[in-house]
Amino acid sequence: MVVRVATVAFEGIEARPVDVQVMISNGTVVFNVVGLGDKAVAESRERVRSALVASGLSLPAKRITVNLAPADLPKEGSHYDLPIALGVMAAMGALPSDALDGFMVLGELALDGAISAVSGVLPAAVSANARGLGLICPAECGPEAAWASEDISIIAPRNLIQIANHFHGTQVLSRPVPAVKSLMGPQLDLRDIKGQESAKRALEIAAAGGHNLLFNGPPGAGKSMLAARLPSILPPLTPSELLEVSMIHSVAGNLAGGQLTDRRPFRAPHHSASMAALVGGGPHARPGEASLAHNGVLFLDELPEFQGQALDALRQPLESGEIAISRAARRCVYPARFQLIAAMNPCRCGLANEPGHRCQKGSPQRCSQLYQARLSGPFLDRIDLHLEVPAISASDLILPPASEGSEEIAARVAVARDLQRSRYKGLGFENVTCNAMATAAILEQTIRLDDAGSRLIRDAADKLRLSARGFHRVLKLARTIADLQGSTDVLRPHLAEALSYRLFVDRPSEAA
Ligand SMILES: Nc1ncnc2c1ncn2[C@@H]1O[C@H](COP(=O)(O)OP(=O)(O)OP(=O)(O)O)[C@@H](O)[C@H]1O
Ligand SMILES: [Mg+2]
Repeated sequence: MVVRVATVAFEGIEARPVDVQVMISNGTVVFNVVGLGDKAVAESRERVRSALVASGLSLPAKRITVNLAPADLPKEGSHYDLPIALGVMAAMGALPSDALDGFMVLGELALDGAISAVSGVLPAAVSANARGLGLICPAECGPEAAWASEDISIIAPRNLIQIANHFHGTQVLSRPVPAVKSLMGPQLDLRDIKGQESAKRALEIAAAGGHNLLFNGPPGAGKSMLAARLPSILPPLTPSELLEVSMIHSVAGNLAGGQLTDRRPFRAPHHSASMAALVGGGPHARPGEASLAHNGVLFLDELPEFQGQALDALRQPLESGEIAISRAARRCVYPARFQLIAAMNPCRCGLANEPGHRCQKGSPQRCSQLYQARLSGPFLDRIDLHLEVPAISASDLILPPASEGSEEIAARVAVARDLQRSRYKGLGFENVTCNAMATAAILEQTIRLDDAGSRLIRDAADKLRLSARGFHRVLKLARTIADLQGSTDVLRPHLAEALSYRLFVDRPSEAA
């Protein structure tokens, strides 16, 4: 008799159904696992054998064959241990023969029979729920699985003995409850920053519309400080965004204790990060920082120090909001709709724009040209707000703290975001939640410029040699500035402010 146990293989955050088939027959005493598994799958035999022995079940002296179907789908990871072990137990008669019907199973086994946490439990639970199945997963991942649906039945045992007792009715396990991560301490507050009013304004606009932002300024001006305080003014994740973000973090194995949080992700990779670390890939096609920042912020500090190729690899997700990773056998797609916040010095010495300063390369213009040439034009074109952050003076530093902190700014951002969401929902674009996500066609429907506004943007587009992308990005930015003011129309002052954030883009070429 063949016992079948349902499990999954992951392709990005998609969980593909896999059938674990176990047969115990007479013949040579072997334990074979077939079905295009990787090394972790091949090694699962040893873990299963030891875990069963430790749980008081020795394998029968027969031929045990395990097939992972479909045979042409590559299987990676250690989560096949538990379905294989339960399949063998059912085939041996240690579990009721129909116990595993209606369940999807995943989990890793320790040699003593304990069930260890695995990555990807949330997407697996969502897939099980869609297929009308329940889920058997490690105890540590139970709270994560419980987020998939209120109705899905979940069994989250600590070891093989607990699951056997559960099915025999001697120790019934209760359903785990969804866990929320308790927030660790207060967030950094924008009130700590003295002066830099225009930089704070730019940060507020970026937060309100989800726009990309680049701070450029001398060392110690407070650029990294400003960026680190962005999470304190961003609105919490909506329930559907929370699920999307958590699926990616689940596949990456980042959900410690199965706890989810509604704080927007804030990822700040070091500038030595490789292309695979930024956009994803590597032997197991893991999600990169860009995907882990989905629905949140990707902060690239010291931008020109990143590898040029790695930065250019971000150009595709910056436009499409997803990353396709192609590997020899297959292709997987991870969502990657992040808000890019970057900071840089104007040149290698960092003081090119300071009056009277002489740079290492002779003229400050030459020094800053060489430094900024590390960033490609198309990459910079995707950044909506370019802002120069001047050095802060000692007289600013001794000022009392600002009267307005993150709480007040976050309240304005939340109102502007609500306006955007309801506007796009009203037009039937449920998936567009902020201005940065609006396409050119949507902008045409939502922005009608008056004569003064049209004239301004036409003249400025010619003078600044704006690309079509740049033109649309200015419109989106102006829409956000109008939303922050509560204005239904985009007027000339909104466009003028939006255009002021593009001036810096052309400066290097002017200097050249
Ligand atoms: N506007 C400010 N208000 C209060 N403190 C500030 C301000 N700007 C800078 N500082 C102080 O200077 C330190 C360095 O600031 P920060 O690291 O943000 O500078 P930066 O602009 O990122 O410099 P770099 O270009 O060298 O990375 C901060 O930790 C803080 O103590
Ligand atoms: Mg810095």
